[in-house]
Amino acid sequence: MKKIIIDTDPGIDDAMAILLADASDAIDLIGITTTFGNASIENSTRNALYLKDKFSLKAIVAQGANTPLVLPASPPATVVHGDNGLGNIVIPTEQQNQAVSQTAHDYIINSVKAHPHEITLVAIGRLTNLALALNKSPEIASLVKEVIIMGGAFGFNGHSGNLTPFAEANVYGDPHAADIVVSADWPVTMVGLDVTQQSIMTNAYINKLKCKSPKYGAFISEISAFYAHFYHADLGLDGFYVHDSSAIVYAIAPEIFTTERGNIRVVTEGVATGHTLFKQSDRLFPIDEWSNHPKQTICTNVDSEALLNLYMNSLT
Ligand code: BDR
Ligand code: CA
Repeated sequence: MKKIIIDTDPGIDDAMAILLADASDAIDLIGITTTFGNASIENSTRNALYLKDKFSLKAIVAQGANTPLVLPASPPATVVHGDNGLGNIVIPTEQQNQAVSQTAHDYIINSVKAHPHEITLVAIGRLTNLALALNKSPEIASLVKEVIIMGGAFGFNGHSGNLTPFAEANVYGDPHAADIVVSADWPVTMVGLDVTQQSIMTNAYINKLKCKSPKYGAFISEISAFYAHFYHADLGLDGFYVHDSSAIVYAIAPEIFTTERGNIRVVTEGVATGHTLFKQSDRLFPIDEWSNHPKQTICTNVDSEALLNLYMNSLT
């Protein structure tokens, strides 16, 4: 079983990803660290605690950053995830469980040091907490097993951005943090829009999940209605793209993804802020500010039928 910490801004698709991790026999979900993004940090944390109560998750919850490293915070993505971050379903005002007292980045540092070479960090929100952890304790880079990120877009299959024409939302939300995380000497895999927009959970798929999964189906159907409504209004889709759950699927079944290796950097200012760059070539350019950065992995294709089956089968 893979020990994982999910760094997240729940978020409708974040909640769906957390539930996949809970359901999967391949994953031991030890921690959920929260960040701002789809919802305010208070709502993200409250939503994580609500999931912990409702599904008896053993993972601890640690609250993280409420603002990007350098840029001012943008407002939460309420148009996509609802005012409360979970599609405006009714959430009890009091939660039974509480967040631990340490910050998300301290929890990450302490857990990685307590379990050297065992922990996979799966980041499905802004990368601020991971960057804060690296800034405070750079030595964790050599102690983490793997870092899997839902974020970025590299132009494969025509997918380049969803918040701007050239930037994916999680990277755009804190581009400085993202650049720190992809430039660190630890094994990063980016599960970007290139693959997440290849898989769609249609309304029929969600209805089937509702029938087949007594534990999770009705809840996922309830929260995802708002998300599906947004995608229909915005793009005319029947259903929605599978962003955050694709990162969890990568942790479980990397073999269903096609990948490439190269250097990654993130544009941190100007009109292309949040754009993720990928340099595969080993050519020595006269000016090359990033050839000494570590090679990382990006996903360029996915067997989306296998991905959708894995999600359905894990939850039922
Ligand atoms: C990412 O942005 C958020 O809205 C989703 O939760 C996902 O993490 C997709 O760009
Ligand atoms: Ca997310």
